[in-house]
Amino acid sequence: FATGQLAGRHVVITAGPTREAIDPVRYLSNHSSGKMGYALAEAAVEAGARVTLISGPTGLPTPERVTRIDVTSALEMLEASLAQAPQCDLFIGAAAVADYRPADYQPQKMKKGDEDTLQIALTKNPDIIAAVAQIENRPITIGFAAESEQLLEYARGKRERKGLDAIIANDISREGLGFNSDDNAVTLIDAERELALGPMSKTRLARALIAELSRYTR
Ligand code: PMT
Repeated sequence: FATGQLAGRHVVITAGPTREAIDPVRYLSNHSSGKMGYALAEAAVEAGARVTLISGPTGLPTPERVTRIDVTSALEMLEASLAQAPQCDLFIGAAAVADYRPADYQPQKMKKGDEDTLQIALTKNPDIIAAVAQIENRPITIGFAAESEQLLEYARGKRERKGLDAIIANDISREGLGFNSDDNAVTLIDAERELALGPMSKTRLARALIAELSRYTR
């Protein structure tokens, strides 16, 4: 892996989960640790890029020479992404964005009621990576697809629907891989080919992915 493949290029990466507030003390979220996105940020720095990491809440330290923008919700991640996307060459959506948020945020802590069940209405969040892929002079736009079944088929569909240059299909059905683990296995899918990578550490996988993605040109 030669360094310098991304010299002079600006890479923006989203990482981690989003949190969707129900009330001031409660939220909906998922098990993303941010490790995959942070490893990609490190690998992009090693390859010579200027890197901006748009991060949901994680317990991870900011990698060296990376500019980090902290966000909490999907709407905040969308705003930061649309602000950064026009100024970057490569945009990678590794974040596990919540597909839905509570329809009505309760400004006071919700009280426990007498009923045994509680229903919370949800509303769909905007699709961040699809929005980035639609801007004028778009960057090379890469998504992930976390799937627990029919991995390649669902991932191909997501790549087309979201208008992405490539999608990284992430099998999350296998123990010890994917969400909140140190290792991962993926298939990089673009219009021409499908390349299986791993299982290997997220650090090594990120280097292999950055080497592949740095070959794409607009
Ligand atoms: O963070 P780790 O613990 O290291 O785990 C890594 C990971 C499994 C979270 C990561 O490798 C991964 O697969 N990220 C994508 C998770 C996901 O939400 O996938 P999805 O299939 O639901 O979304 C598809 C793509 O659309 C993703 O690029 C996602 O960032 C994007 N998306 C989804 C919903 C939404 N509202 N906006 C989006 O931009």
